[in-house]
Amino acid sequence: MPYKLYNSDAFDWLESQEANILHAIVTDPPYGLQEYTSKELSKMRKGKGGVWRIPPSFDGAKRRPQPRFTILNNDELNDIKNWFEKFGNATFRVLRPGAHVIIASNSLLFPYVAIGMKDSGFEFRGSVARLVRTLRGGDRPKNGHKEFNMVSSAPRSCWEPWLIFRKPFKGTLVENLRKWETGGLQRISEETPFLDVLQSQRTPLNERRISDHPSLKPQSLMRYFAKAVLPLDRGTILDPFMGGGSTIAAAEYFGFESIGIEIDKIFFDIAKNGIPLLAKLDVRINGFQDDTTFSDKGTTITQEKLEF
Ligand SMILES: C[S@@+](CC[C@H](N)C(=O)[O-])C[C@H]1O[C@@H](n2cnc3c(N)ncnc32)[C@H](O)[C@@H]1O
Repeated sequence: MPYKLYNSDAFDWLESQEANILHAIVTDPPYGLQEYTSKELSKMRKGKGGVWRIPPSFDGAKRRPQPRFTILNNDELNDIKNWFEKFGNATFRVLRPGAHVIIASNSLLFPYVAIGMKDSGFEFRGSVARLVRTLRGGDRPKNGHKEFNMVSSAPRSCWEPWLIFRKPFKGTLVENLRKWETGGLQRISEETPFLDVLQSQRTPLNERRISDHPSLKPQSLMRYFAKAVLPLDRGTILDPFMGGGSTIAAAEYFGFESIGIEIDKIFFDIAKNGIPLLAKLDVRINGFQDDTTFSDKGTTITQEKLEF
């Protein structure tokens, strides 16, 4: 089995590792605050109150809970920045020079993530805009829906930023690729470089049925990242906040080595059971044409085929 899973605190695990061993991190972190504490998880599992909210339903479909980030005050936003600095410090040592770190964020919080990671020593290398309707924001003013029917309290978010960082290296990229196998992002094809906009979808029902985690990311998206972060198709990807195991399943799909850490035993078991099934799914990158496939030779897409 090319992947290893640990039911552990990511920070403890990272501290116990040797330096310069990992090629990449792809992760969707807990944002360091409240949403994955046992108190908030228990409220979410009971379906009552706390930081988790159920987004409004437009079509009668039951929506999954989402963390309510708009309630964060300035101190809590600063805590996010500090938490990412701590995360950056913990991961910097175990990554090879030139290793990429791709972190899921959202349109409200990404500046705090970027500054925290930069302050821990990583280079900020841009972001991928995942075009997806998250159903966050865009509501009319509370208790004033009729009076202010043409007003939104905030934009409805239709994209999700995935931030890209790199551990700095000495010398040229070519030298680093030879020595550490890292530093660049794998191209989509000889003609097409890695692209920073991706039409996406919410996680399909069949994937959520396999791995019932409230933040499960789609395989189409995670395979896009897993392939990109290993420029030479070799190395080990870490997801320190594995959740339902979507990163590990994507790595497994390509036969890449990976390591997943999850602190919550219920989620850990969900991931352990779900990863082999998610990895077997036949998926395409939603938004690309039907001939988009992942194969041993890489993704077969070209820029002209992007649908916006
Ligand atoms: C946003 S979710 C990840 C979802 C995942 N990307 C997926 O597709 O299923 C973050 C996960 O990190 C876990 N977590 C929170 N703090 C942790 C820690 N210190 N160490 C390891 N896991 C942690 C939470 O229990 C949660 O499952």
